[in-house]
Amino acid sequence: MAGLDWTYGVSTLRQWESADYEPSLPVSEKSNPLTRDIDRASAYSIVKMLQVCDSQMFQKEAGTIYQRLLSDQVVKTLMEVAKRVEVIIKDPQESCVVMSGCGTSGRLAFLISSGFNKALSQLNQSEVYSYIIAGGDRALLSSQEAPEDDPRLGVLNLKKVCEGKKRVLFIGISCGLSAPFVAGQLDFCLQHPEVYTPVLVGFNPAHQARDEPIQDCTFTFHSVVQRMQELAKSQKAFLINPAVGPEAISGSSRMKGGSATKILLEAAFSAAHAATSSNTPITHNGVLQHMMAYERTLAVTYSQTDGITTLVEAAGQSLQCSRHVYYLGWGSLALLGLIDASECSPTFGADYEDVRGFIRGGYRELNNNDGPLTSLGPKFSIAHEDFLHLILPCLTDKDTVLLIYTHSDDATEVGNMARRVREKTPNLHAVYHQADGDTAASLQQDDIKKLCLSTLKITWPQEALVSGTLQHMRELSTKLVLNAVSTGAHVLKGKIYQNHMIDLQVTNTKLYRRATRLLQLSACPEEKCEEALLKAIYRVDMLTLEMTSSDITTHTCFARNSTKVVPLALVILLTGWSLVEAESHLKQQPIVREAVAQWMW
Ligand code: F6P
Repeated sequence: MAGLDWTYGVSTLRQWESADYEPSLPVSEKSNPLTRDIDRASAYSIVKMLQVCDSQMFQKEAGTIYQRLLSDQVVKTLMEVAKRVEVIIKDPQESCVVMSGCGTSGRLAFLISSGFNKALSQLNQSEVYSYIIAGGDRALLSSQEAPEDDPRLGVLNLKKVCEGKKRVLFIGISCGLSAPFVAGQLDFCLQHPEVYTPVLVGFNPAHQARDEPIQDCTFTFHSVVQRMQELAKSQKAFLINPAVGPEAISGSSRMKGGSATKILLEAAFSAAHAATSSNTPITHNGVLQHMMAYERTLAVTYSQTDGITTLVEAAGQSLQCSRHVYYLGWGSLALLGLIDASECSPTFGADYEDVRGFIRGGYRELNNNDGPLTSLGPKFSIAHEDFLHLILPCLTDKDTVLLIYTHSDDATEVGNMARRVREKTPNLHAVYHQADGDTAASLQQDDIKKLCLSTLKITWPQEALVSGTLQHMRELSTKLVLNAVSTGAHVLKGKIYQNHMIDLQVTNTKLYRRATRLLQLSACPEEKCEEALLKAIYRVDMLTLEMTSSDITTHTCFARNSTKVVPLALVILLTGWSLVEAESHLKQQPIVREAVAQWMW
């Protein structure tokens, strides 16, 4: 990547906005021209690419069809949503705010509702926020992609959370404006306007909402959005759908989609909280200032490119030799570690042991709806004690351990953990957030620093403390760092081709469609690609009539138990080999990037 120019011209940065750039795809599924060579980049270049990609979130509106994060209309809608939240906070008895989503969108619903409920409790006010995640609480920590396709389940979950409520502000999050689970809930809200006010958060313009029929439903996501647009004129529904540009890894909405969800909802809720506690009106400028604090967060975080690069390299080396990456976190930053780790298996086809998160206090700290989930299996062991009992004894210097904490966490405890890990491996690193001028914390921090191979120290200005945005900034910053670490490490492991994740799971209709599209990289016609996909799912050379006539849901259910589906289908398409031959070749060359490059280009 020598010679790569980080000061991209405006035309490269905005290329995706042009009407003829991948015109059949919504923004959330387009490939980002900035990262086309990410699969061959060094760790440093990967981090720089992610930085430029993230900076696209804050690009200004520029005469295209796209609204942007800081567009006037977006800020105005956030103000209106904030006003509804303010009313609910002041009269919490029979009202609530419900956020719902699938995968990362549901995880962020959880993170945001936890944070704002805590803030209310600290002021002795009633908690008003609830979350729903498709697939239930187990989906907070593991990949549950199938429920995303189930609109009825969405409605059932919503009814349960809202039992007895007379006023509900429902916030459906679907980055791609695509999840049937969320479409079902929005449709239900539209049918019961006396109780529900629906809000949709996503990152495609309305006309790009998914228009694929949903089984046994009369609506599509697109038709629901159209009905909402109509009601939005009289402020009976709200759409918050700025474009943030294509993801660095195509379709990986956990990255910018997740960050932008956090930015938008926190800006609205913070404005509502500030208005309630100070009895002052919600202002355009107040909301805008909060959003701009996140823009500064990007700058502060990425000013540490070298430190982030070190972490990406360490994690990449661990994964390359089939070892592991562990995030040991404190407070809500630990939650971001759990979330980032849980996303690696659906995004990169990783094993749950590859990247794992642990939180101080375990489920007590998590405080999720269903309480402890440990009985569901080893991947649900998330406390530091679990790490000490289950992981530490087998830790080697090929594993990477990351401590994630702030100056307000118990430094003695962090130090003890650091010493325990250090006895087993020197490959220990820290991501540490401190406030500017916090010298007392620095002394203890020095001891921890000595135990770590690298320390990424992120210093926040005192003004962030005063304005109450510090927690949100630290969280976003941690999200960016961990997304870079896990994405970068998997790129270095060879899991990506160009900027496409080839080895994705094919466990719901969206992913099935994405997989069929990816296979067309082989230049084979669509029907051939789908045929190869089915052969790889069912592991046969000859498809039976039963297989070819089944619906996508049946295919995706079956695919839950199959691995390497898309790489296998790709090899079959490119070489004409039988399934057994293709499987054995993939075994010899498991690095998807190399395997694909070997046969294709
Ligand atoms: O189906 C998998 C997935 O792409 C997750 O990775 C993602 O977090 C989730 O779907 C939700 O997508 P969306 O927010 O677009 O509905």
